[in-house]
Amino acid sequence: MIKLNGIKKVNVAVFISGRGSNLENLIKCSKNKKSKFKISLIISSSSKASGLKFAKKFNIKRKVINFNNNTLIEKNLLMAFKKKHINIICLAGFMKILSKNFIKRFDGKILNIHPSLLPKYKGLNTHFRAIQNKESYSGCTVHYVNSKLDSGKIILQKRVKIFKKDTAKSLAARVLIQEHALYPKALNKIINDH
Ligand code: GRF
Repeated sequence: MIKLNGIKKVNVAVFISGRGSNLENLIKCSKNKKSKFKISLIISSSSKASGLKFAKKFNIKRKVINFNNNTLIEKNLLMAFKKKHINIICLAGFMKILSKNFIKRFDGKILNIHPSLLPKYKGLNTHFRAIQNKESYSGCTVHYVNSKLDSGKIILQKRVKIFKKDTAKSLAARVLIQEHALYPKALNKIINDH
């Protein structure tokens, strides 16, 4: 925990693998005076992730990590976390599976955003599957990460109506708008609850 302008802020590391729109949104929300968090570190599983550009844009430390080598990963991550005093990890479009060891070590401190109303539609292609199953609603979920995929305790959810004319793409775009509202809200909530 650090003190910024007299307000205590929690240091957050955001893990990405691609576009990083949730990352960008979290950074912007962290600049809000009332925000309880600061994005202090960006971890990417790929050097090609376009979201890495936000590190330069907002002057945030970034690290690309090869998540295929388990022992090295943890060593590298722990060193980076120590330097930046990281308290909470937010996964945002992060496409790798974290080791059981790592999840245990940060139990209750790793959050993820998933584009469905969990426990429905865990895994990939959520929008396509929700439309195929003729669901009336989809949405997004912010949840804690445990060792089972998309199965940790739910923090907040937001419903999004599915229209007859929806494609996976049009639904994804509407859900993403709600993701951007939900993730900072969930993050501030768990910080307040701590
Ligand atoms: C989001 O839809 C998120 O819910 C899912 O992956 C997508 C990442 O988008 N886990 P972005 O990289 O944050 O733009």
